[in-house]
Amino acid sequence: MSVPEYMTAMEIAQPGGPEMLRPVLRPTPKPGPDEVLIEVTAAGINRPDVLQRLGKYDPPPGTTDIPGLEVSGRIVALGAGVSGWEKGDRVCALLAGGGYAEYCVAPASQCLPIPDGLKLVEAAVVPETFFTVWSNVFDRGRLQSGESFLVHGGSSGIGTTAIQLAKAFGARVFATAGSAEKCRACTELGADRAIDYREEDFVAVIKDMTDGKGVDVVLDMVGGDYIPRSIDCMAVEGRHVSIAFLQGGKVTVDFFPVMTKRLTLTGSTLRARPIADKAAIAGRLREKVWPLLAAGRVRPVLHQSFPLTEAGAAHALMESSGHIGKIALKVRG
Ligand SMILES: NC(=O)c1ccc[n+]([C@@H]2O[C@H](COP(=O)([O-])OP(=O)(O)OC[C@H]3O[C@@H](n4cnc5c(N)ncnc54)[C@H](OP(=O)(O)O)[C@@H]3O)[C@@H](O)[C@H]2O)c1
Repeated sequence: MSVPEYMTAMEIAQPGGPEMLRPVLRPTPKPGPDEVLIEVTAAGINRPDVLQRLGKYDPPPGTTDIPGLEVSGRIVALGAGVSGWEKGDRVCALLAGGGYAEYCVAPASQCLPIPDGLKLVEAAVVPETFFTVWSNVFDRGRLQSGESFLVHGGSSGIGTTAIQLAKAFGARVFATAGSAEKCRACTELGADRAIDYREEDFVAVIKDMTDGKGVDVVLDMVGGDYIPRSIDCMAVEGRHVSIAFLQGGKVTVDFFPVMTKRLTLTGSTLRARPIADKAAIAGRLREKVWPLLAAGRVRPVLHQSFPLTEAGAAHALMESSGHIGKIALKVRG
């Protein structure tokens, strides 16, 4: 397996629009201790990449400036101390950056085997949303079988994953989305009721559908007035998990129901968490979710893929919110 000294990568020339993503030649990275070098087949696009391109979400210290939080491909070199993987193994991997490139390095503990039955391009769009949903809905949100769950942005990459996993683990699932077509996609993925937020008030629908009881867990990426409105339709002992604030993080909230309903308000970002935390999440995914992927009970929803050098067009599509599910970059093959 010969590895070239230089590779093509997409860099952010300067903060700005999708046209700021430009192909460049960069030295092929070398795997450090406990890392592997991956010859990338495909990379997933995520909304945090758009924020990074806009200059609003810098990579953690020590991380490459090349965007890209997830890839699939073939391991072509091993750093010192790596066990459990061999050269030639096909994997998908969660990254802190560097996925928009022909080669990238990943912590060995953040690699997972390609789930049976998935193409490499489909496997590329699994890690970021599956790690995020698992750690926020099941670890932090403690969603249990028989409970009810509401995800905002149900047709997003995160939302399409959250709907399927919550359903597979026995929850009653509600989702909000911005059109009838997106709502249809949510119900086809398993949501018991999708709410078109442009046509209906999700608070009223949730109260009606739960006989006034409310939902046990909310996964929110919208923020703004969704936070007090979600609190209004949460059940006693409910858990509210924030993962983004598309409508802003500064809100006026009446904490009275937080007290009387004994609610938990929490949240997290995945990218900045220590490698050991991500390795632990990888372990839980491999045990509990990989069998569901292999059985076809949950699947990544791939909306469209673009060649690596058209990353700007892929970002423009994501910012238009015209997609349902995930967007990928095909790097080779
Ligand atoms: N905390 C973490 O660890 C973490 C990790 C990954 C992603 N995230 C966040 O999770 C969110 C989803 O990521 P993704 O990659 O799945 O993105 P995505 O597919 O682009 O989804 C974003 C969705 O949000 C909705 N939306 C956009 N602007 C909105 C607005 N102003 N108000 C209400 N809804 C809006 C859109 O759906 P509609 O057309 O229905 O409005 C869109 O489908 C992003 O905000 C991302 O930053 C957080």
